[in-house]
Amino acid sequence: MSQSIFEQVKKLIAEIQQFSITDQATAEQFRTQYIGSKNVIKPIFSLIGQVPADRKKEFGQLVNQAKQTAEEKWAAYSDNLNSDAGSSAFHQDMTMPVMGKPGTKHPITIVLDQIVSIFEKIGFEVAEDMEIEDDWNNFTALNTPEDHPARDMQDTFYLKDFAGRLLRTHTSSVQSRFMSKHKPPIRILAPGKVYRNETISARSHCQFHQVEGLYIDKSVSMADLKQTLLYFAKEMFGSDTKIRLRPSYFPFTEPSAEMDIYWGLKDATDHRITKGTGWLEILGCGMVDPAVLSNCGINPNEYSGFAFGMGIERQAMLLYKIPDIRYYFENDLRFLNQF
Ligand code: PHE
Repeated sequence: MSQSIFEQVKKLIAEIQQFSITDQATAEQFRTQYIGSKNVIKPIFSLIGQVPADRKKEFGQLVNQAKQTAEEKWAAYSDNLNSDAGSSAFHQDMTMPVMGKPGTKHPITIVLDQIVSIFEKIGFEVAEDMEIEDDWNNFTALNTPEDHPARDMQDTFYLKDFAGRLLRTHTSSVQSRFMSKHKPPIRILAPGKVYRNETISARSHCQFHQVEGLYIDKSVSMADLKQTLLYFAKEMFGSDTKIRLRPSYFPFTEPSAEMDIYWGLKDATDHRITKGTGWLEILGCGMVDPAVLSNCGINPNEYSGFAFGMGIERQAMLLYKIPDIRYYFENDLRFLNQF
């Protein structure tokens, strides 16, 4: 008799060890069976009366072992459930009602959405394209043939096993892709990720986001470009924002410029980020070079246009006072939950 009680308790311990809690239902089953007030272990203690005196101690220890095994397993399950990491799949019970804040938008997404909606108001449409590009669309069509010194302006990641392919260094590659497939008038905005082989620091990263704008039609002028950018700057940074265009160089625009906004010199940070000038560079722009139009099958004698390209990380850093570009890509909830 006592032999079989011993065997039964040993079987129970094995059962508890082998029990696999895979979801909320099995967890509840485990809890009622082995942990709750009506668990199956408790009544076994009272069977000690049937055990011969010389084995009572051993029996007590065995039943206690069953109890402990169950409690430890339950504690491990609960700890895991409460841990921040939430690594195992069954922690994400999709049937649970949403409590509190279900998630937040990434600051890059917030700023991207804002920029897109500003340009949508004046008739620009979103056109997205691939991040793995070929040399033609990223460089050659954009008036930057091989050996052109301007290729050094952007350190490129070339893909080893994917001959001739690279990670696009700018969203300007969407210009050539779109123009090759569509006839003017063209008015597009191309947001997306770009890559450059740069040393990662607080100010620069090997991956970041840009938004490209392209407008091609009959008799588009530099005045149209300036007016469009002024409208954007006021919507984005406030109605009294001032802009200035400084002459610059890009192989695919002629003339080319960089646009600064007047940020001001209110405190020490302003002095530092504007290098004491009060002005901050926001984007590159210019009139689309006629050679680029020809490369993409558009007649430069009939059409003209402007293009601009701006980085997103820097603008979000300004708007949200984010001190380090690496924060964007680390997925730290202490950062992400602030947005
Ligand atoms: N592609 C340029 C860059 O990444 C920006 C640019 C876009 C300049 C369009 C002019 C016109 O620096």
